[in-house]
Amino acid sequence: MKIKTAEFVISNSDYRICPAPKMPEYAFIGRSNIGKSSLINALVNHRNLAKTSGKPGKTQLINHFLINKEWYLVDLPGFGYAKIPKSLRAQFHDMISNYLTNRTNLMCLFVLVDSRHKPQAIDQEFMQWLAEKGIPFVIIFTKADKLGKVALNKQIEAYKSEMQKEWEELPETFVTSAEKKMGTQEIADYIEKLNPHFKKR
Ligand code: GTP
Ligand code: MG
Repeated sequence: MKIKTAEFVISNSDYRICPAPKMPEYAFIGRSNIGKSSLINALVNHRNLAKTSGKPGKTQLINHFLINKEWYLVDLPGFGYAKIPKSLRAQFHDMISNYLTNRTNLMCLFVLVDSRHKPQAIDQEFMQWLAEKGIPFVIIFTKADKLGKVALNKQIEAYKSEMQKEWEELPETFVTSAEKKMGTQEIADYIEKLNPHFKKR
C-alpha cells in the first residue's frame, strides 16, 4: 500500500472520546524509547508527525492519526517507564488497558521490541495478557540498523526460539529500522491485507 496522506486527529487519555470507531485501526505499543513514534513517522513518510525524543516517556496520550482518509494509526505511551511516579503509572496502565480492551475497531496491535534484546519479562507478560484478552497482535523488532546482518538474524532467531518454549504458535514478526526505513513497506502491506476484514458495528 502507498501512504498518500497522514494527518494528526486528536490526543486524549480516554478511549471513550477517541474518534468514532468507524474505520480500521492499528496501534503501536512497547517500552518507552523503543521507537514507536519514530517508526510511525518512517511508515507515513513524515519527519515529525508523531513526536519523538531521546528521553523515554515522550508520548503520554493516545494519539490518533488518520491515514489515506481510510484508517487510523495510533501512537501510545510506553509502558515500564520507571521514572514516572507510581500514581501516574496506575493511571497510564488504566488508560492503555481500557483502550486495548474496549476499542472495537482495533484490527491489530503492533508490539515493539528491541532487535538487540532477549525476550523481556515485561513484554512477555504483556503478550500473555493480550492472548488472554483475545487482542490480535504482531511483534515488531526495532532499531535493526544497530546490528549487522548476521548478528541481526541470529538475534531474531534466538528471540523466536526462546518464545517458542512458552507459546504454541508465534505471532507474525516484522524486522524494522525507522532510521533506515526498513520493514515499513511490509507493515503497510500487512495493514492493506487486514483493512478489508474490518466490520462496521
Ligand atoms: P516514548 O514515546 O517515550 O514511549 O518513546 P518511543 O517508543 O515513541 O520512542 P521514540 O520514537 O521517541 O524514539 C526513542 C529514541 O530511539 C530516539 O532517540 C530515536 O531517534 C531512537 N530510534 C528510534 N527508532 C530508531 C531506529 O530505527 N534506529 C535507531 N538507531 N534509533 C532509533
Ligand atoms: Mg513515543
